[in-house]
Amino acid sequence: MIENDTSHCSILLIDDEPFAQQIIEHGLKSCVKHVLRYESSPARAVDLVCELKVTVVLVDLRMPDLDGFEFTRRLRANPATEHIPVIMLSSEDDPEIKAQAFAAGVNDYMVKWPDPRELVARVQYHNAACIARRERDAAFASLRVSQQQLAASESALHQAQKMEAIGQLTGGVAHDFNNVLQIIGGNLQLLKMVGGLNEVARNRVEMALAGVERGAKLSSHLLAFARRQPLQAVVLNPGHLLRDMDDMMRRVLGPNAHIETSIDPSLWSTVADPNQLNNVLLNLAINARDAMGGNGALRIRASNAGGAAPSPGAALPPGVAAGEYVLIEVADTGRGMPPEVLQRAFEPFFTTKPVGQGTGLGLSMAYGFVKQSGGEIILDSEVGRGTSVRIFLPRSEQDAAQPEAPVDVPLYGGLETILVVEDEEDVRSSTCAILSALGYEVLEACDAAGAIAVVESGRHIDLVFTDVIMPGPVSSLQLGEAVREHLPHAQVLYTSGYAEGVLAHEGKVSASVHLLQKPYHPDALSARIRHLLRPGRTGAAANSPRAAGTASVSAG
Ligand SMILES: Nc1ncnc2c1ncn2[C@@H]1O[C@H](COP(=O)(O)OP(=O)(O)OP(=O)(O)O)[C@@H](O)[C@H]1O
Ligand SMILES: [Mg+2]
Repeated sequence: MIENDTSHCSILLIDDEPFAQQIIEHGLKSCVKHVLRYESSPARAVDLVCELKVTVVLVDLRMPDLDGFEFTRRLRANPATEHIPVIMLSSEDDPEIKAQAFAAGVNDYMVKWPDPRELVARVQYHNAACIARRERDAAFASLRVSQQQLAASESALHQAQKMEAIGQLTGGVAHDFNNVLQIIGGNLQLLKMVGGLNEVARNRVEMALAGVERGAKLSSHLLAFARRQPLQAVVLNPGHLLRDMDDMMRRVLGPNAHIETSIDPSLWSTVADPNQLNNVLLNLAINARDAMGGNGALRIRASNAGGAAPSPGAALPPGVAAGEYVLIEVADTGRGMPPEVLQRAFEPFFTTKPVGQGTGLGLSMAYGFVKQSGGEIILDSEVGRGTSVRIFLPRSEQDAAQPEAPVDVPLYGGLETILVVEDEEDVRSSTCAILSALGYEVLEACDAAGAIAVVESGRHIDLVFTDVIMPGPVSSLQLGEAVREHLPHAQVLYTSGYAEGVLAHEGKVSASVHLLQKPYHPDALSARIRHLLRPGRTGAAANSPRAAGTASVSAG
């Protein structure tokens, strides 16, 4: 839109004769709301055109140091002033000179001294053209910015969809893989327990069990990436966790690397699974070690971020929804990542490390864990300048729970009665066999409805060990309620390799739910059962917040 308003009319008159100012001022009297500035030196005037945001220049042709032609050429040579309209004023009414003026770049030529009506009309015309051009340029610039923003959000959406699709796939594979590992591992353990194996056979069984353990580690990382890991979240203060990890970090980084930890003394608490958070931080430290080659500096910082009145440096970066967070940053001075590596670093199995040195699951599990915990993870890296990983976990209003002191539980069985509920026949049969071998009386059901029938039959049961996800109209949670109602003294221990939507609220399993992650080792199963059946426990309601799951750390 061309603006007729002359309020933006900013005129610069350049003439070596000061009286020219009065004549032009007089001529422009009828040009409302204009500003006229005068400069006698054309050399100084080039800078003034920029400084004063001039919209029209009136320049004399003949001046001692620099004439109007040269002044115009200089203006046109500068990208900031190349389009400013120039009206040349001259006493020479000569077509040859006028042609030279236009060749030098002037927009108009007036013979001294023009009639005020003509002067005002021409000044207003060039002023409007200048403003229209500026508005058009501003509109193009803002269009370019919007296009860039659109391209950035399209690429972020594409990235998120890609991660979601890979997550669906890996989550599904890991779930089935866990059941397969449970069958293989359970039967191998049974072979060991039954005994009668010679040394060669025992060694073979041990090797096969080591393979099961490796598979379990792999599938737990895949589940973490897929955001389907059963998380046992508690209210915690990451500062305590970081202090506890200090020694381990130093061992990981080696003697030549420098570690600097700074923890905000008034750090908020958050709700997260401490074992998994521990794993994530350890994986970040291993990545930093590999990137720094044993030297360099690792900076670990925990602080509050976001909220109503963020302190300096605590503002949230783009991509993190408004809110209050606990921020944990792990930054190294290593080799950094080129853009094509940075772009793919969270993808599972993406690694730049030589075969056998990296599985490419460290950052993907960190990504899945943080997302599942309701937070955000942001990676910044530049080749030669190092890498920073920032983890934003939502603030919890509650105070951090004191971790329960580990209980020394002997790994033997008992005489109690246990109801095993599992739809996979092979898993159920090996689990029942293990529990029988440990001395328990074992009842079994292949789904929650069948289990409720056993619970309601009035039989004495001390503990129900149930899979979380089973086919059929009755869910494992309904089974848990039936147990609470009919057998208030019995304990419920859930097992799953996958807790999506069933036990988990917003991806987190309540601390009061007892969960054993698949595939489980008989020792872990036995220890959990003995822990739940230890004297003094008086029923399912008397649950204590005990973190579940075994820590598994990628070796980098
Ligand atoms: N701190 C870092 N500095 C430089 N590059 C890094 C850093 N962290 C990760 N990377 C790059 O991202 C890739 C993926 O990292 P990720 O932790 O997922 O897998 P990995 O370290 O290769 O293998 P794994 O952690 O499974 O043993 C790495 O191979 C490396 O190229
Ligand atoms: Mg790694």
